[in-house]
Amino acid sequence: MKIGSVEFGKEPLFLAPMEDVTDPAFRLLCKRFGADMVYTEFVSADALIRNVKRTEQKLTIHDEERPVAIQIYGKDVDTMVEAAKIVEEARPDILDLNFGCPVKKVAGKGAGSGMLRDVPKLLAITKAVVEAVEIPVTVKTRLGWDDQSKIIVDLAEAIQDCGAQALAIHGRTRAQMYTGEADWTLIGEVKNNPRMRIPIIGNGDVTTPERARECFDRYGVDAVMIGRGAIGRPWIFEEVKHYLQTGECVKPYSMQWQIDIIKEHVLRSIEWLGDERKGIVHSRRHLAVTPVFKGIDHFKPTRIAMLRAETLDELFEIIDSVGNRE
Ligand SMILES: Cc1cc2nc3c(=O)[nH]c(=O)nc-3n(C[C@H](O)[C@H](O)[C@H](O)COP(=O)(O)O)c2cc1C
Repeated sequence: MKIGSVEFGKEPLFLAPMEDVTDPAFRLLCKRFGADMVYTEFVSADALIRNVKRTEQKLTIHDEERPVAIQIYGKDVDTMVEAAKIVEEARPDILDLNFGCPVKKVAGKGAGSGMLRDVPKLLAITKAVVEAVEIPVTVKTRLGWDDQSKIIVDLAEAIQDCGAQALAIHGRTRAQMYTGEADWTLIGEVKNNPRMRIPIIGNGDVTTPERARECFDRYGVDAVMIGRGAIGRPWIFEEVKHYLQTGECVKPYSMQWQIDIIKEHVLRSIEWLGDERKGIVHSRRHLAVTPVFKGIDHFKPTRIAMLRAETLDELFEIIDSVGNRE
């Protein structure tokens, strides 16, 4: 499978863009475990053209994580074009346009999934950005705004006609936010539309190797994108990849091995943010959902302590105490 001139091989797995999650520290870990492409968290086009420092930081990419996509969102054509040119200077392999974010502060202003209510604007942005930059432009969106407007099959064709070189579809509507189950049938319909030539990346609720296999086989997608399933579990890419290639599950990872990865992630986050406390607070999202500690008896008080720890010494002592208990 190819996007522009970027080659991905067979049945690639992509790390989904996630705000506050897919920073360089996490992306590099996912890459190490086999993610075939990683995305930055979404970057505000408005903030980018205003030179907001924290936003510019989000454009930092490392050669080791390539291929990497930088994702932007915004609500008007000129701003998106200007932001796209700034992004191009950061030299990502791909520029991705976010037309899927459901949160009020974004969609309510007409950006992200808000664009699903203004398709002419969505298409105008896509076309203008494609014309403005040399790198491949891709789009990530949802099935539609709500149950009554699941427009993705027609929209996908129109997005392709604007020159987008791949389309990632999260199998939910904006109205669903993150509730209910992702519906992959429409993703499959887009893929089976004989007019579609660009790669279709399926996304939504892939958390097991078996489900990834099913998504490739049943819906025919060109790539599977994994988001929440990777939080606190960056090795999911290795698990899924191994299964796709061999039909077998990886040997279970030891508790100590998983703990070492979790600790490494905390250290990398601290390094990235340049501050111990900030790095620890940032890691809590991963610590809270990681499967590493699942099923441990009487874990609740330890969990609470782990998510309250303020220093690295304190946090690692708690994590190590769990490893030693097992
Ligand atoms: C914490 C969080 C942040 C997200 N941020 C973004 C984002 O910046 N850009 C985007 O396109 N999607 C974003 N998403 C949506 C994911 O990319 C993905 O479409 C969604 O989580 C469904 O995939 P999953 O079931 O594998 O998690 C975010 C999701 C989560 C949970």
